[in-house]
Amino acid sequence: LKRVRTRHFARAKEQGIKITGLTSYDVLTAQIFDEAGIDFLLVGDSAGNTVLGYDTTLPVTVDDLIPLTRGVVHGVKRALVVADMPFGSYETGPDEALHTAFRFMKETGAHAVKLEGGVRSAEQIRRIVAAGIPVMGHIGFTPQSEHGLGGHVIQGRGESADALLADAKAVEEAGAFAVVLEMVPAEAARRVTEALSIPTISVGGGPHCDGQLVVWTDWAGLSSGRIPKFVKQYADLRSVLMDAALAYRADVESGAYPDADHSYEDDTAEQALQER
Ligand code: KIV
Ligand code: NA
Repeated sequence: LKRVRTRHFARAKEQGIKITGLTSYDVLTAQIFDEAGIDFLLVGDSAGNTVLGYDTTLPVTVDDLIPLTRGVVHGVKRALVVADMPFGSYETGPDEALHTAFRFMKETGAHAVKLEGGVRSAEQIRRIVAAGIPVMGHIGFTPQSEHGLGGHVIQGRGESADALLADAKAVEEAGAFAVVLEMVPAEAARRVTEALSIPTISVGGGPHCDGQLVVWTDWAGLSSGRIPKFVKQYADLRSVLMDAALAYRADVESGAYPDADHSYEDDTAEQALQER
């Protein structure tokens, strides 16, 4: 089983093979997604919403994400693990950005980092890449700047398609190995994808990108509340777990659980068997 490397991203684009990504925040989902052949796992700062219960990603810290990233790294044999750099951990300049990237690489074993911003983050990307750390860019709607952007607004519509392309070019020229396009019209994403030699990864960027990425808890029907239009739900885990919890509660309250099959006896013969 060969590990996915950044060169496989480049090759996939050349050969027209789609790249698959999911977020993950723990070892158990990482094991499942890795075994399913998902190419890369992003330990997103979306953990702020999906794990920590915040309304935005803004409060998430490097210290929050490091243990989650470690768990995901421990779960994979093949997938490339991307650590997301949180708000306030890279914007002041290349030194801060490299310091944060070093923390993720040294303390978690992640294979790459991701940060938001095109033109505005190019120097940060350049410095991290120069240190031998692969960087995934992230442009279009960038959740860490949602207050500056005026909410969850689709980016790259109309005349701002040119700015999107300029951001994409800046990320590529800075040395990123791939770039996420979040919430942009399919046509703008197609134009960016054709203009770049590095793969584009769609998060609500339509079908013309070189790969797709989605927040796994949305995709598996575990998240409560509103799910973005671009997310297709592949499971209904919320109902599965709700039904399990209700059945468990009913069984415990009625005394149906635990029964003899799920209890231990003072039986030395059974113990000898178990110890073998
Ligand atoms: O944090 C995250 O999950 C992300 C992806 C949605 C791109 O940044
Ligand atoms: Na993110």
